[in-house]
Amino acid sequence: MPLAATGELVAEAAATGAGVGAFNVITLEHAEAIAAGAEAAGRSAILQLSQNAVRYHGALAPIAAATLAVAKASTAQLSVHLDHATDGALVGEAVDLGVSSVMFDASALDYAENVRATAAVVAECHAADVWVEAELGEVGGKDGVHAPGARTDPDDALAYVEATGVDALAVAVGSSHAMLTRDAALDFDLIGRLRSALRVPLVLHGSSGVPDDGLRRAVEQGIVKVNIGTQLNKVFTAAVRAHDAVDPRKYLGPARDAVAAEVARLTTLLS
Ligand code: G3H
Ligand code: ZN
Repeated sequence: MPLAATGELVAEAAATGAGVGAFNVITLEHAEAIAAGAEAAGRSAILQLSQNAVRYHGALAPIAAATLAVAKASTAQLSVHLDHATDGALVGEAVDLGVSSVMFDASALDYAENVRATAAVVAECHAADVWVEAELGEVGGKDGVHAPGARTDPDDALAYVEATGVDALAVAVGSSHAMLTRDAALDFDLIGRLRSALRVPLVLHGSSGVPDDGLRRAVEQGIVKVNIGTQLNKVFTAAVRAHDAVDPRKYLGPARDAVAAEVARLTTLLS
């Protein structure tokens, strides 16, 4: 199937009151597992490469080419997204490589600078028909930059979306990145108020820390794109550790299968 457009997957989910899972790719096995899980569940999904994952590989092009190839070869509707990019040059490279969407994360900048930098990225991406997500309110738990407990104010969010022209907004509503326990308490009332205030879809980051029921309620209240990374790494690593073998295929294969099963479960839960 041809590569899907993130904007279309998100719009389709929003139109039916559903959510779409956006899963972090670190290795080729992650990409293969996300595709297999989405296919098994008969659901769409977004494969996302973070700037941190690109730093791990030392370059965007090889892992992006592999992820794009996996997405295009799948029978599921899959798009490829650049996640948490702070580097404008990396955004340009991702657009040239063919990703269909990017998250530009200027949340560490002061407000005026955030708006200026984000609006510039939006102009560049829209010229290439690429969908842009940005963040306001700082989702907790990442690199020490973000304060846990941060919240996005609906009035601020509306002003920010209008000033930048972004297509979707990542909001701080009680989740925190890289949680190993699934006990984050989301502010569902705030999600509802943000949905009422904004005409762009809402994105939940740090979704690994949210229990299943919290994910369902978050989607009911208005979250559409649900970013999940750590939860897949938990099942991946548990499967690797359960296999004492020298041939990587003997432990990466089960890890890939375990991630595929979790993606199938989560995509079904969200939609
Ligand atoms: O942008 C990606 C995420 O927000 C994933 O966060 O690893 O805590 O699920 P997580
Ligand atoms: Zn995130």
